[in-house]
Amino acid sequence: MARSGKMIQFDRYGDVDELHFVAQELPVPDDDEVVVEIVAAGLNHIENYIRQGDFQSRLPLAFPANQGSCFAGIVKKRGRAVRDLSVGAEVIGHAVGGGAHATYIAVPRTAVVPKPQRVSWEIAGGLYLAGATAYDVVRGLALGSDDVLVVTAAAGGVGHLECQLALVAGARVIGTCSPRNHDYLRSIGVIPITYGDGLEERIREAAKGPVTAFIDNFGGDNPALAKSLKVIPSRFSSSEDRLETEMRFITVDRDDTEPAMILSELATMIEEGRIQPLISGFYPFDYIVQAFADLGEKHSRGKVVVGMQPVESGARSSWYLSGKARDVHSA
Ligand SMILES: NC(=O)c1ccc[n+]([C@@H]2O[C@H](COP(=O)([O-])OP(=O)(O)OC[C@H]3O[C@@H](n4cnc5c(N)ncnc54)[C@H](OP(=O)(O)O)[C@@H]3O)[C@@H](O)[C@H]2O)c1
Repeated sequence: MARSGKMIQFDRYGDVDELHFVAQELPVPDDDEVVVEIVAAGLNHIENYIRQGDFQSRLPLAFPANQGSCFAGIVKKRGRAVRDLSVGAEVIGHAVGGGAHATYIAVPRTAVVPKPQRVSWEIAGGLYLAGATAYDVVRGLALGSDDVLVVTAAAGGVGHLECQLALVAGARVIGTCSPRNHDYLRSIGVIPITYGDGLEERIREAAKGPVTAFIDNFGGDNPALAKSLKVIPSRFSSSEDRLETEMRFITVDRDDTEPAMILSELATMIEEGRIQPLISGFYPFDYIVQAFADLGEKHSRGKVVVGMQPVESGARSSWYLSGKARDVHSA
């Protein structure tokens, strides 16, 4: 008998209230595909922007449209050409063409990597887009132990990963955030600085010398700030650069193996304790509209993730609700 689940769809460009659930049958994989029952999936601002129609000209949607870029789950079926991954394998993946906000997804075998057992479902489910973006941005700056790096929105879903990857590269990292995130940033080895009036002076004081690189996640006045700090343009990563990086990782070709290479590397770093992604809120799938609304508040500390509660996981709803948006609502 066909197994059934549900997936998120929307029928026109619009806000989060355009989202609704539709029934979903267990997909049939193509020869080179696996079908994954999703356990957890990340939420990203860019999914909001795409749904709202902000990128209609470069990324026109066909309706009904689905969404969701990052997932982790259990392989339920594999195509005839897939020999190196068993049914039942636990994987982390990226949703080629979208559709991770669902019970099931069919993706090319090349879009998933094994999930190390020590990497939790919620961390694995939210890893792809924020992780690949942070990885690519930090790699592009070729940081080393002589660098003093400023990261804006340093406690956010992408920023907290950029900070940790930069620390692994040996840089000193100064992160902007509100006072409620100072303890968290300190706990991961970042020098916290409150954004707002007087930011430049506070950065100069913390840097105790030249600022050599700058990652701006937030935009606003930060490009002018980087200029005033005399950061050379090739070592300034703007929020527009980041947007382009996210767009590239969202629209990757199904034959592109770079995302899986990055996912593998990040999963190993997490397994080895070299980086530690943080979950801001872990919501039941039924609460996805609320989860997007909370993400939109722009005060997440770490990633916002939904959990699909497959029967096999034995999950209880209290397991999810315990961590729900505590950070956003205390902002
Ligand atoms: N997705 C994209 O394509 C894209 C591209 C470029 C930039 N952005 C923007 O970059 C920001 C961070 O991205 P994300 O994915 O990491 O989002 P996120 O997880 O929602 O991060 C939000 C973070 O932004 C911080 N923040 C809020 N107001 C700020 C301000 N005025 N100055 C500096 N930081 C501030 C918050 O810190 P506190 O709670 O401590 O205030 C929070 O930690 C978001 O605002 C996002 O819209 C997104």
